[in-house]
Amino acid sequence: EAASKGGYDHFMEKEIHEQPKGIKETLERRLDDQGNIKLDSINISKEDLDGINKVYIVACGTAYNAGLLGKYAIEKFVKVPVICDIASEFRYSDPFVDENTLLILVSQSGETADTLAALRDSKAKGARILSITNVVGSSIARESDDVFYTWAGPEIAVASTKAYTTQIISLYMVALDFAIKKGTITEEFYKEMIAKMKELPDKIEEVLSNEEHIKELAKTVSGKEDAFYLGRGVDYNLAMEGSLKLKEISYIHSEAFAAGELKHGTIALIEEGTPVIAIATQEALFEKMVSNMEEVRARGAYVIAIAQNHNTTVEKASDKVIYIPNSDDILSPILAVIPMQLLAYHVSKLRGCDVDKPRNLAKSVTVE
Ligand code: G6P
Repeated sequence: EAASKGGYDHFMEKEIHEQPKGIKETLERRLDDQGNIKLDSINISKEDLDGINKVYIVACGTAYNAGLLGKYAIEKFVKVPVICDIASEFRYSDPFVDENTLLILVSQSGETADTLAALRDSKAKGARILSITNVVGSSIARESDDVFYTWAGPEIAVASTKAYTTQIISLYMVALDFAIKKGTITEEFYKEMIAKMKELPDKIEEVLSNEEHIKELAKTVSGKEDAFYLGRGVDYNLAMEGSLKLKEISYIHSEAFAAGELKHGTIALIEEGTPVIAIATQEALFEKMVSNMEEVRARGAYVIAIAQNHNTTVEKASDKVIYIPNSDDILSPILAVIPMQLLAYHVSKLRGCDVDKPRNLAKSVTVE
């Protein structure tokens, strides 16, 4: 087993470090000679797209958190309404699914019972089914009309890391492909986004090289009982994933909040020394996030901010800052999640938890 961990202490750490490779594979295997996206095994034409008036993204756990970013990208690029739902809620909610619906399922294993049930129910109602999965030939892959594989490689640790980032890239590729076919984005924007996505593996390496700093920060969180994650826009969706990582492997109670909701209740939870991880990667929302950091800090919170390199004014509102390379607003989450994965990992290790096999959790939930 030690050999298969490639010199790392745990599979999770190995998998965190495999993300540049996973993203590169997922992306570059689908670029043709002209550098355009070629979605293998997806045969959705412009005519098919014109017939689709709504999209559901359905998934569980980390895959659901990736789906939230997919919703953002599809709505922004393809200009079609997207509902992102948790599979176990979706299947009992009598959703508006018909032959004009595209159902996108996101599942690392391709075997999650609720996600599979959502697929079967929607198929029976005539929806077109596209799945994004990491396991070739899995049940969800087999029963879908179109499949897009994440090339993350096998993920062993229960806490998902490289599956999440490759799922986001896959959803963005699907969004860009649909948008260029439908004519809802320009050729120039399309090319620019692909070029920026290609820069991600190197930028992730840069974030990973900062691991020692994050390991130090883990000491300030490891003795706490609660932690909060704040963000706005896609950073809020990312906060949900950061919070999930921490709670599932360190057993610290943690919650994610939309920063704008602070004053509607959340701020009552802040005490002296409460760790708050504040994600501020979105240019348009940056100043708003800085005020939210100041609000929680004034009530005693210990603020760890995650911001783009050039946004150094974040330092006035935080105790510690983790910088990530500058990137496009929609791509920043892929960089900002890396320090949160590392933080959860090092906190879990410091607390002596079973990092790769946290209590009560399973890698794949094949029962309801
Ligand atoms: C379990 C795993 C999670 C995963 C979720 C969905 O809860 O522990 O890491 O996100 O299932 O799994 P899937 O294979 O459908 O992505």
